[in-house]
Amino acid sequence: MRRIFSARPGAAGSFTIERADRDAYLQPAPVLDYYQRQTFFAGRGHFSRRWEVFAANGEWGLGPAFIADRCSQCHLRAGRGAPPQFGDEQLLSMVLRVSIKGSDEFGGPKPHPHYGVQLQNRALQKHNIKYDYTDYPVPQEADLYLDWTETTVTFADGERVSLRAPQPRIENLAFGPLGEEAQTSLRIAPSVFGLGLLEAVSEETILAIAQRQKSLGYKRRPNYVRDDINQRTRLGRFGWKANQPSLRQQVAAAAIADLG
Ligand code: HEC
Repeated sequence: MRRIFSARPGAAGSFTIERADRDAYLQPAPVLDYYQRQTFFAGRGHFSRRWEVFAANGEWGLGPAFIADRCSQCHLRAGRGAPPQFGDEQLLSMVLRVSIKGSDEFGGPKPHPHYGVQLQNRALQKHNIKYDYTDYPVPQEADLYLDWTETTVTFADGERVSLRAPQPRIENLAFGPLGEEAQTSLRIAPSVFGLGLLEAVSEETILAIAQRQKSLGYKRRPNYVRDDINQRTRLGRFGWKANQPSLRQQVAAAAIADLG
């Protein structure tokens, strides 16, 4: 095994995993006891297995519309996703969130009346030949591609670099146009290792960090979101905009919006 953190051995203390191969992010922390490891491996199984419409012994409940058929299709080996390589390739490990202007009763984004919170670019219809769901009545919501706009930037020392920015391209909307009010937000799947540790950080600690950031000129604005499980407002922690308060709710949201 190759050491990864040779400059800073054991950067995560007793949680450090001394591996640098492509499965490094999929490993349980070395400190886990036997029962915690069992729980970890059960969760990793659900995360990596392919979901089906129906499976006698497995992950079932996929669709009717969805984006991917397993968590690990977006969070590649528990690492981050990737944008499509070619212009004719659809988004695979990214999500295009959609909402309409204004906010819901808890201050969150307002779901689109026809498309919900995310555009689902796959469906059982035409998808699962094996189980013959090709005639399934619900179609995918849209086809999703990325275009890139490239700009050249010059640094102070004269070095020129080319930067590219992604622009989502939405085609074949199944339930009518998105409309004037619609706004979209493109998000790549982040890595998911170590998040239990982040969940264990106290709210006071996070708020203290936000306070400290004020002096550095950051916006330091904690995001308070709806905790649907406990029916109250709570500090958001997960997602690119800290829009989910707990891992449990984040995972439930993924089960609904990503896997359908
Ligand atoms: C279609 C791609 C896709 C699938 C499938 C998917 N995710 Fe995600 N996941 C994302 C994206 C994109 C985000 C960031 C969401 C945001 O910022 O709104 C995310 C965020 C997360 C986060 C929070 C990460 C962080 O650092 O805040 C967790 C945890 C997570 N997903 C777990 C899961 C689990 C478990 C599953 C399977 C049940 C799953 N995801 C399926 C794309 C996906």
